[in-house]
Amino acid sequence: MSPQQVEADWYDYPQYFDLSFRDETDDEVEFFEKAFARYVDYPVRRVLETGCGGGRLVLEMARRNYDVVAFDLNEKSVSYVRRRLRRTGRSANVYVQDMTNFELEESVDAAFCTWNTFRHLLTDESAQQHLRSVATAVNSGGIYILGLHLLPLDIDEECTERWTAKHGGTKVTATLKVIETRRADRIERLRINLRVRSGKRDLRIRHEFPLRMYTCQQMQELLASVPEWELVDVFDFWYDVDDPLELNDEITDTVLVLRKRREIVRRRK
Ligand SMILES: C[S@@+](CC[C@H](N)C(=O)[O-])C[C@H]1O[C@@H](n2cnc3c(N)ncnc32)[C@H](O)[C@@H]1O
Repeated sequence: MSPQQVEADWYDYPQYFDLSFRDETDDEVEFFEKAFARYVDYPVRRVLETGCGGGRLVLEMARRNYDVVAFDLNEKSVSYVRRRLRRTGRSANVYVQDMTNFELEESVDAAFCTWNTFRHLLTDESAQQHLRSVATAVNSGGIYILGLHLLPLDIDEECTERWTAKHGGTKVTATLKVIETRRADRIERLRINLRVRSGKRDLRIRHEFPLRMYTCQQMQELLASVPEWELVDVFDFWYDVDDPLELNDEITDTVLVLRKRREIVRRRK
């Protein structure tokens, strides 16, 4: 029997998105904790995730006794994370919020945003606003861990990635393909196909969406425009805190560690 096909926002299926990234969670969270110890000179207790999706990182950080605040634009994702928290007896403050521009009631010691979530902000203004909002939310000396793909100068623009993940009786195969690259307005369009097999269920979810593109230089320019943050180190998706890299035109899978400056020296015009 052929699979049931749906054209839908894949973030409306947070359980499957989350499952497809589940194997990365431990390495990421281990890295967060090592980065907190290395780059923040006070104990990190309260953390923020911007664009938390199905909540795999929220749940793991809550399990490790952090005080977690997290939000996402997608209501279905937020409801799903809340249900998971209830089911596992953990607590975290999770709500619907656009990450472009926000304020927290209480500041945090550190924040994180991985797997290209930041690239959903499609203009320079929204990216700057976001970085300023996070800077207001994070205590001085705290960090923001930002993970995204940068565009090397010699990138293959027709790139396709495929990966499979299983949990319980559910198997998810994700195929992500770049279908359009517009260098002029820095937009890349991607198509994701999620094939979900679970018992008798065989579902194929197809979604197309845009992301903003960054070369190394464009990222450096963006960071220079938000002086609240200093770039303290760069890593890749191996998350090896003992192996910092250079921000250059060769790196693709990039994890930036930004630290909130204690004082901002504004440049004279
Ligand atoms: C790639 S997923 C990452 C989810 C989660 N951080 C993880 O690593 O499992 C991106 C998430 O960002 C959310 N998102 C996209 N644009 C957003 C915005 N402007 N404000 C808040 N969340 C947004 C999507 O709904 C989606 O859940």
